Amino acid sequence: MWRLSNILTSTLVATAFAATATPEFATREELLAWLRTEYAKPPAAWPAPVLDEGVPHRELATPGPAPFPEGMEPTREKKELGLSLFFDPRLSGSQQISCSRCHDPEKGWADGRSLAQGVFMGQLTRNTPGLQGVGHHTSIFWDGRSPSLEAQAAAVITHPKEMAGNPEKIVRRLAAVKDFYPPRFKAAFGDESITFERILQAIAAFERGLTTGRSRFDRFLAGKQDALNDAELHGLHLFRTQARCLNCHNGPHFSDGLSHNAGLTYYGRRFEDLGRHTVTGKAEDVGRFRTPSLRNVGRTGPWMHHGLFPTMRGVLNLYNAGMPRPARKDHQKDDPLFPETSPLLKPLHLSPDQRADLEAFLMSLDEPPMRVLTPPFPPLGP
Ligand code: HEC
Ligand code: HEC
Repeated sequence: MWRLSNILTSTLVATAFAATATPEFATREELLAWLRTEYAKPPAAWPAPVLDEGVPHRELATPGPAPFPEGMEPTREKKELGLSLFFDPRLSGSQQISCSRCHDPEKGWADGRSLAQGVFMGQLTRNTPGLQGVGHHTSIFWDGRSPSLEAQAAAVITHPKEMAGNPEKIVRRLAAVKDFYPPRFKAAFGDESITFERILQAIAAFERGLTTGRSRFDRFLAGKQDALNDAELHGLHLFRTQARCLNCHNGPHFSDGLSHNAGLTYYGRRFEDLGRHTVTGKAEDVGRFRTPSLRNVGRTGPWMHHGLFPTMRGVLNLYNAGMPRPARKDHQKDDPLFPETSPLLKPLHLSPDQRADLEAFLMSLDEPPMRVLTPPFPPLGP
């Protein structure tokens, strides 16, 4: 009974959030006691979030399995083959760099660097994202330029600065490891034929299997009240309310799937990155980047599309200040491309203790790391 009525009130309240601010408490103990009671309820009955007008209420949740294209069910055989290909440097022009060189399972499937290093040690212009949960993304890359995991894999393998691979040569190299790859392609696809398309499909199947949903926050969602400590619980509440994070980082993946300008365009300066504008050509897309998932975010630093933030506290201090909002210089007065920081970002007035609790909550989203102990591909010849 309470379920339906609470869902109704929570949607109503969300649209009129001003009336539902956190009550004032004399002590932290009282606040925490109130939070424990409120957050013991199902998420639909949690305190209403702080959302700006027009932002839909998509509550945080545990994700289900990733969707897949028709006929491309990520079977165990496809995933195992994809794992081998993901680690195999045969997919690059130099035969020295594999996907796993930049997406290392021990580092949250990222690389721990600010900017990625491509084939022949060339520096790329963006930070390597982690891949857990990537099967759920509706647009791929920081600027959303790739429509699918298959297209993304083709792009990175053939890109001259990333892996510089040649599809025909790759197919020939794999076919030459007779006792390893042909039987695995047969197990995955029904016959031994090795094609570039099947390589991409197997890699994508493997990536769709990199699921999320085993963090302490997910256990809390499943009803284990002690899975979050007091600081983390308070951080969750701040994330949804005063810190305004739920305006963009929402739903099971902590992302609305949209692109926003967080004030990090570096317009006209070193590190300038026009983001989504380079894909759409639209003036309003200058400096917009896809809202990244925050699952496992504790393990994928340094942060942001350029990896220029080495500490989470630094990221949160900047959010607390409302993020950069560059002013136009004289010669930029009429520049139609001058980037506009999202109006959803505002100064937050969070105390240092509140920022510490918010950070603690973000770290509760980390999941047990996946270990890949032996290289799952045949060694290269001498
Ligand atoms: C040289 C380092 C490097 C290598 C090698 C590499 N990646 Fe990446 N990967 C990156 C970087 C950097 C980005 C972000 C680029 C951007 O958004 O413009 C990225 C983005 C991605 C994304 C998008 C993630 C998201 O959240 O949108 C996927 C998926 C991905 N890589 C998979 C792969 C696969 C599969 C391979 C091998 C075929 C691979 N990568 C090889 C560095 C690398
Ligand atoms: C206007 C939408 C919006 C709001 C509100 C917002 N974010 Fe973000 N967030 C983004 C976008 C977009 C990026 C990527 C920006 C970039 O790289 O230029 C990002 C990046 C991040 C990153 C770095 C992730 C990574 O993998 O590098 C963290 C951490 C983060 N946000 C946390 C938060 C927290 C905590 C809040 C609340 C205080 C918040 N965000 C509020 C849109 C938003």
